[in-house]
Amino acid sequence: MSELVLETNKLHKVYDGSSATTVEVFKGINFRLARGEVYYILGHSGVGKSTFLHLLGGLDTPTSGDVLFDGKSLSSMNESQLAHFRNKNIGFVFQFYHLLPELTLLENVMLPLMISNESNAEEKAIEWIERVGLKERIQHLPSQLSGGEQQRTTIARALVHSPQVVLCDEPTGNLDETNAKIVYDLIESLNQEEGVTFCIVTHEESFVKSKPNVYRLTSGNLQKES
Ligand SMILES: Nc1ncnc2c1ncn2[C@@H]1O[C@H](COP(=O)(O)OP(=O)(O)O)[C@@H](O)[C@H]1O
Ligand SMILES: [Mg+2]
Repeated sequence: MSELVLETNKLHKVYDGSSATTVEVFKGINFRLARGEVYYILGHSGVGKSTFLHLLGGLDTPTSGDVLFDGKSLSSMNESQLAHFRNKNIGFVFQFYHLLPELTLLENVMLPLMISNESNAEEKAIEWIERVGLKERIQHLPSQLSGGEQQRTTIARALVHSPQVVLCDEPTGNLDETNAKIVYDLIESLNQEEGVTFCIVTHEESFVKSKPNVYRLTSGNLQKES
């Protein structure tokens, strides 16, 4: 059996409010991600897709149950260990890009390396910008890039520090069909060439048809479709 990189163990998440606003988002999810695979999780709006990715990436904590990375429990880590875990191992790609508007494309991609004080930040960032096909746009600000170019920039930023897992939250939710296909093809080729594990949540069914490792989130549970 292939090596596991991330695993959830009886994952429960309840957003506690008054009795009228309490939401039980997950009812004990057991999910395993093998290293080097691409996973797609489908589910309609409000079903808990973003929450699930936040839990996998240590941005949020479960009500009970646990997330394990390389067999190590995230709930055993303190804040600074968690921050270190995220910086080293996880890349995030969001629907609305989350690029810093006053920084150029190059500076945005360099940022994770600057934060962790890595050497050759500019060189490494340029390599990744070339990989996503944006070398000609290196000095552009996010406002001077198309939606598809901004999302390719966030993919370069997510991969620049060589994470083990990249978590994508509706990465094509804001793109037209042509650009959405470019982004999905880019993710698949980066997976094949770099062996990075991807977990992508989306409500777009059309791109996901015929892929292996498709799951569906419904009523607090995760079920395998293919
Ligand atoms: N901070 C919060 N407090 C209370 N409820 C929340 C909070 N965040 C999300 N929820 C609720 O949890 C459910 C799942 O949200 P979310 O993970 O954002 O869904 P999705 O990404 O699938 O649209 C929704 O019903 C939402 O209203
Ligand atoms: Mg969401």
